[in-house]
Amino acid sequence: MAPSLFLAFLLLSSAASSANSSPIKDSFIQCLNSKTDQSQVPLTTFFSRDINSSLFTALLESSAQNLRYLRPSKPKPEFIFTPLTEAHVQSAVVCSKKLGVHMRVRSGGHDYEGISYVSEIETPFIVVDMLRLRSVSVDIDSSTAWIQAGATIGEVYYKISEKSKVHGFPAGLCTSLGVGGHITGGAYGSMMRKYGLGADNVLDARIVDTNGTILDRSAMGEDLFWAIRGGDGASFGVILSWKIRLVPVPESVTVFTVTRTLEQGATKLLYRWQQVADKLDEDLFIRVIFRVATVGENKTVSTSYNALFLGTADRLLQVMEGSFPELGLTLSDCIEMSWIESVLYIAGWPGGTDPEILVQGKSLFKNYFKAKSDFITEPIPKPALEGLWEWLFKDEGPLMIWNPFGGMMSKIPESEIAFPHRKGNIFMIQYLSNWQERGVDEANRHMEETNKHVHWIRMLYRYMTPYVSKSPRSAYVNYRDLDLGMSASGNGSYLRASIWGPKYFKNNWKRLGMVKQVADPENFFRNEQSIPPYVAAGQRYK
Ligand SMILES: Cc1cc2nc3c(=O)[nH]c(=O)nc-3n(C[C@H](O)[C@H](O)[C@H](O)COP(=O)(O)OP(=O)(O)OC[C@H]3O[C@@H](n4cnc5c(N)ncnc54)[C@H](O)[C@@H]3O)c2cc1C
Ligand SMILES: *[C@@H]1O[C@H](CO)[C@@H](O)[C@H](O)[C@H]1NC(C)=O
Ligand SMILES: *[C@@H]1O[C@H](CO)[C@@H](O)[C@H](O)[C@H]1NC(C)=O
Ligand SMILES: *[C@@H]1O[C@H](CO)[C@@H](O)[C@H](O)[C@H]1NC(C)=O
Ligand SMILES: *[C@@H]1O[C@H](CO)[C@@H](O)[C@H](O)[C@H]1NC(C)=O
Repeated sequence: MAPSLFLAFLLLSSAASSANSSPIKDSFIQCLNSKTDQSQVPLTTFFSRDINSSLFTALLESSAQNLRYLRPSKPKPEFIFTPLTEAHVQSAVVCSKKLGVHMRVRSGGHDYEGISYVSEIETPFIVVDMLRLRSVSVDIDSSTAWIQAGATIGEVYYKISEKSKVHGFPAGLCTSLGVGGHITGGAYGSMMRKYGLGADNVLDARIVDTNGTILDRSAMGEDLFWAIRGGDGASFGVILSWKIRLVPVPESVTVFTVTRTLEQGATKLLYRWQQVADKLDEDLFIRVIFRVATVGENKTVSTSYNALFLGTADRLLQVMEGSFPELGLTLSDCIEMSWIESVLYIAGWPGGTDPEILVQGKSLFKNYFKAKSDFITEPIPKPALEGLWEWLFKDEGPLMIWNPFGGMMSKIPESEIAFPHRKGNIFMIQYLSNWQERGVDEANRHMEETNKHVHWIRMLYRYMTPYVSKSPRSAYVNYRDLDLGMSASGNGSYLRASIWGPKYFKNNWKRLGMVKQVADPENFFRNEQSIPPYVAAGQRYK
């Protein structure tokens, strides 16, 4: 569609929707009831912004992580539907399609650019929120579990630990992530070096396709099953549940956090970490968290080495002595605990928190933020690190996390599942700028605040260009970054899939488009960065 036509369409449809928004809900309910064999779809599963606005707002905000996307100026869904059964999800797809209403799906609400609950490309739109489809059934005998999309990863970890002290699952570090969005993007965490990603440990899945049919692995076929593991499931259907493979964990694991500032030789130590991080024993995962700290009157960078070791403290000290003695780890830095306690520790819950808190699915972290990611294939030279510190000093809420790769991540071929970032990557960087805002009415001040932080992170990203992966400069799809669709001048459109596609998916990009062409040729499942159907080389892909 030409841009002017597209704009006219947007204006028309938003005018239509603000004039009469509940009719969309009414026809939707009518359609759902006619599609669902069982009893009527309960009215308590609909939350409309015009009819019961406080419940609507509370639900919309409940799992949204990036407060930028809750601002009054951001487009809001007509209503939120919270299905109670798989059949409700099937009907929601059929009815959205029939009524021509754009649909978004939300599981844990952690999307960095809020695209599970904000559509900046189509009005009106609705949100199907999976929060009531969150059962987790663990079967220790077969070392597997079926987990529904609306469960948080923390609930999954907890329910595994309830049944066994020696089973775990290798996925994200933050416990409030929804397994619907998280696992379909890859899902890395503190056991990735030993067992790979969450998506590497998926055995089966149930999804609702574009026709409203439920497909499991054998019905969807290996191409689609490949695509939803790391390739952004939101482009292909609604994920109802995953069957995951549990992995062995020792009864006692060891964690530590050791912090060094610039004055304590952080730069030299970090240079050394870059040489060993991906080559360490696979039982050992040491990430580095960077913050700006103040010592007396001086600003400094604090680098925290935050680690999980799948073994005892004694053996950890031996491993460290042999491969990374420069950190100077001592027995008193090490804490032995159960695997589930280590989940809380790494996620940042205060010491002594009861693991049962995980069943509440609560998040520890809600902020206004903008983030970006990079993959590193060569150690970053010391002078470049020193330049990086200068950059960190320029923002008020900078945060960086460097996450080691190697181990199992290097053994799995790039084309095994759709997630492509494997051998050759030493580590991944996540850059963040976090900030808080006061009263919601100060719209202009907010824009200024946002622009300042967004500008900072874009400039930092530019600074890092020489030191990161090239052709393409890769990015992690779960750290969604809408900047990547923009032209170099920063003013491009969201539709430039040929730019972000290869960054997120490398050589798997074309196959994803071909799978999409078969699974959803009409592009019903779409968003600002969904995979377009592959039409022909020379059209969308070049
Ligand atoms: C604080 C924080 C910490 C994080 N830590 C990690 C980490 O340790 N490791 C890691 O790998 N990632 C991490 N992430 C990134 C995270 O994996 C992604 O944001 C992921 O997409 C979140 O999934 P969600 O279901 O919570 O999000 P949502 O916002 O609900 O969804 C994200 C995307 O997936 C789609 N989607 C959601 N549910 C479904 C479904 N059922 N079927 C089809 N599509 C669906 C949405 O439409 C949207 O496009 C973190 C993010 C945050 C905010
Ligand atoms: C608001 O939504 C809830 C859904 O739980 C519903 O039960 C209630 O009747 C609604 N209120 C109004 C005024 O429609
Ligand atoms: C601050 O920096 C100055 C100059 O580098 C140094 O002399 C001083 O000791 C530092 N102060 C603290 C508290 O570290
Ligand atoms: C935006 O991009 C278009 C096409 O790429 C270009 O012609 C135009 O000059 C750009 N505008 C700005 C303000 O950079
Ligand atoms: C959906 O249904 C149509 C019509 O029955 C069929 O032609 C198409 O192949 C189906 N699509 C998928 C992805 O199964």
